[in-house]
Amino acid sequence: MRTPLLIINEKNYLEVSGDNALNLAKAAESVATNLGVEIVVAPPIPFLGIVAENVSIPVLSQHTDSFKPGSVTGSIIPELVKSLNVSGSIINHSEKRVQFDELNQIIPRLRDVGLISVICAGTSEEVSRIATLQPDFIAIEPPELIGSGIAVSKAKPEVVSNSVKAAQRVNSKVKVICGAGVVEPKDVAASLKLGAFGVLVASGIVKASNWKKKISELAKPLVI
Ligand code: G3P
Repeated sequence: MRTPLLIINEKNYLEVSGDNALNLAKAAESVATNLGVEIVVAPPIPFLGIVAENVSIPVLSQHTDSFKPGSVTGSIIPELVKSLNVSGSIINHSEKRVQFDELNQIIPRLRDVGLISVICAGTSEEVSRIATLQPDFIAIEPPELIGSGIAVSKAKPEVVSNSVKAAQRVNSKVKVICGAGVVEPKDVAASLKLGAFGVLVASGIVKASNWKKKISELAKPLVI
């Protein structure tokens, strides 16, 4: 995935049920093409296949387990996710936390099957710990700002800059992105200025009345 990037986490909002998971992804694809920027979508898991088959932009799973393929009912398996033409997976979102030991298992599992890892963290201390596991991306998202409409880059800019520095100290290859409360283009611009390689957005886009317009607004600061 190219940087800077905008990741749209569709979560499991009713607004993206049925055909709308793909409709939102199509809107993102259209903006990505028009502006020439990297936009990535993470649809609800039941729509992962249909979205990944029908858009050319990268698609992420919202979660994946480290289990091997086989008799593991109800789990989300890296090899099967990869078979859907999906690019990678978010792991450890604050709404889907996993143990550190599981992170230690899943990051190499994703790498081995050719999936990109986007590991969420709630604090810069957690960023440091996760960076030792060599994921591709770490997404810093203070849980209390998620869905608040108050951007992390505005409310807690030091959390973003400290996370960027923390990751750099441990592993200069890992790219830090940030999310929580991003609703305006200036939030995206501020995040990039603080050293983030991109942003994650959910409610600011999913709840907007015009998806394409909102995605376009938020993606414009990515144009270099
Ligand atoms: O994964 C992104 C998400 O947690 C941020 O949510 O609604 O604050 O954009 P939101």
